Amino acid sequence: MTGGTFRIEKMGLHDLEAVLRIEAASFTEPWTWEMFRAEMIPGISLALVALSEEDEMLGYLCGSIVEGEFYISNIAVDPRVRRQGVGAKILLSALAHASCQGAKTASLEVRASNRTAQALYRHFGFALVGRRRRYYTGPVEDALIMCLDQLDEAVSARLEGEKA
Ligand SMILES: CC(C)(COP(=O)(O)OP(=O)(O)OC[C@H]1O[C@@H](n2cnc3c(N)ncnc32)[C@H](O)[C@@H]1OP(=O)(O)O)[C@@H](O)C(=O)NCCC(=O)NCCS
Repeated sequence: MTGGTFRIEKMGLHDLEAVLRIEAASFTEPWTWEMFRAEMIPGISLALVALSEEDEMLGYLCGSIVEGEFYISNIAVDPRVRRQGVGAKILLSALAHASCQGAKTASLEVRASNRTAQALYRHFGFALVGRRRRYYTGPVEDALIMCLDQLDEAVSARLEGEKA
């Protein structure tokens, strides 16, 4: 299995079995089927998957757009294909979709110890704006709040960078 060539699509119920496998391999307190199902509300939610040419599930992102803000609630990539650009591509697709749907900013929470995810978000221009004490359980840990202002400009800059 390699990242190789892949495509981004909207997440469907048929994707959840493979999504749940990656979720279990990625988090100490993985989301359930019901939690992913709840992320598929038409008009508000934005749930995307990355699929290989052979239709293997490589990763996914869940988020929602409320009052001009795109909130990212989950992102993970299959451990076997990490560091091959899959996470960046899903995140860029999601930010571009959210911008097209009127979102002006993006935000998320991330475990204080999760330097890898923080590096991905910084790579896109997300800045640290706050901390929620003891926000996570299993293990208990602070959440860092990260925000990306001027979403449209950030997306355009990334898309230009990809073309160059
Ligand atoms: C965070 C995660 C989604 C990144 O996915 P990925 O496909 O490996 O990331 P990419 O290959 O697209 O990396 C994009 C950029 O992110 C940063 N990055 C990603 N992994 C990194 C690592 N291990 N160390 C340092 N920087 C890293 C780099 O800036 C990288 O760009 P570069 O490769 O040009 O240097 C993946 O590591 C993952 O699924 N982690 C477990 C789940 C998780 O923590 N989700 C976030 C919850 S808030």
